[in-house]
Amino acid sequence: PIYNKPTIYYPLTTLMLAGIRDILIITNRGEKASFERLLRDGNQWGVNIQYAFQENPNGIAEAFIIAEEFIGGNSICLILGDNLFFGHELQAKLLKNSSIDRGATIFTQSVNDPERYGVVDFNQEYKAIHIEEKPKNPRSNYAITGLYFFDNKVVQESKKLNPSERGELEITDLLHEYLKQGELNVEILGRGCGWFDTGTFDSLYE
Ligand code: G1P
Repeated sequence: PIYNKPTIYYPLTTLMLAGIRDILIITNRGEKASFERLLRDGNQWGVNIQYAFQENPNGIAEAFIIAEEFIGGNSICLILGDNLFFGHELQAKLLKNSSIDRGATIFTQSVNDPERYGVVDFNQEYKAIHIEEKPKNPRSNYAITGLYFFDNKVVQESKKLNPSERGELEITDLLHEYLKQGELNVEILGRGCGWFDTGTFDSLYE
């Protein structure tokens, strides 16, 4: 829990703010049942929740392969279960991107510890020019948050990925592919927007 609510409630409500009603939750095999017990089929909140599991921690991009049938011919939004977003400007940015049918959109925010994240660097027009996963020497302070919109080709692009040095299909490699094809949009979350990744004990406490 984050104070009085299960962590998963936060990303779930972010999806709802984006107008998304069909949701697939991907967990590891052992935890699937506890998520199902907590969230049920989503009908109590007017959404439709389905479940799938990832056999091994093979990376975030594997989600698109696991979700192939769920995605069908649609575009897709992915949010990481430990990412919390708050902010007045958020909903408009979400709604604007939830209807994209071409390319990918990432949401980025300036942070003090970019080496913990995927990092994007842009040119003066705020066009992305470089993407790197947990760089030792980050080229910018802009972290890529765990919220992404993709067009339908993301499924096929994910299947072409090779595992990284840490043995994962990296979401940043996927983004790199969209960047190469000139199809990566960047939304910058400003000062009025809060973003937390609860992946460390300190960030969970924060
Ligand atoms: C993942 C992504 C990274 C992103 C981060 C956001 O990191 O790989 O690009 O910036 O989520 O929370 P991980 O949770 O694997 O450390």
